[in-house]
Amino acid sequence: MFKNILVPVDGSANAHKAVELAGDLARHYGAQIALVHVLRRAGDVVAPEGLEGYMASEHVRLTEQDFLRLAATEIVDREAAALEAMGLAVERLVEIGDPATEIVGAAKRHGADLIVIGSRGRGGVVGLLLGSVSGKVAQLAPCTCITVR
Ligand SMILES: Nc1ncnc2c1ncn2[C@@H]1O[C@H](COP(=O)(O)OP(=O)(O)OP(=O)(O)O)[C@@H](O)[C@H]1O
Ligand SMILES: [Mg+2]
Repeated sequence: MFKNILVPVDGSANAHKAVELAGDLARHYGAQIALVHVLRRAGDVVAPEGLEGYMASEHVRLTEQDFLRLAATEIVDREAAALEAMGLAVERLVEIGDPATEIVGAAKRHGADLIVIGSRGRGGVVGLLLGSVSGKVAQLAPCTCITVR
């Protein structure tokens, strides 16, 4: 039924649940998984724990763009590791721009036939069922889209 599953991840608990469901479906259908994280802009990413201290102690110099990519890669890698341990093939994507636009673009480029996305993410407004990213992706998705709660 599903062959190419795209899972947008932002480091939130809901996105992690989406990854777990996607992993289950991928095993069931023999599908591939692509994980995507979209960098909104400079300053939007939380550095992986301990990285700043390491950079200072080792005198590591990174450009801001390198640093943001590293943080994004960390978000994607954390989720990819568990899926790969289950024997699943995982592609890692990091894009820059408006998250929903980039997620929908990645789905089209990769021929995704399913998007599994968290209903909410790391953002703040309590009480809403969908966030701005999951709401827009559900509206614009070129394929079936499951929002995970
Ligand atoms: N930058 C991102 N890159 C990839 N996926 C994302 C990104 N932001 C959100 N997502 C995905 O969308 C889901 C819902 O997050 P969303 O950002 O819509 O809700 P929120 O953070 O609670 O609200 P808002 O960001 O509108 O304040 C997340 O669980 C994740 O799957
Ligand atoms: Mg958000």
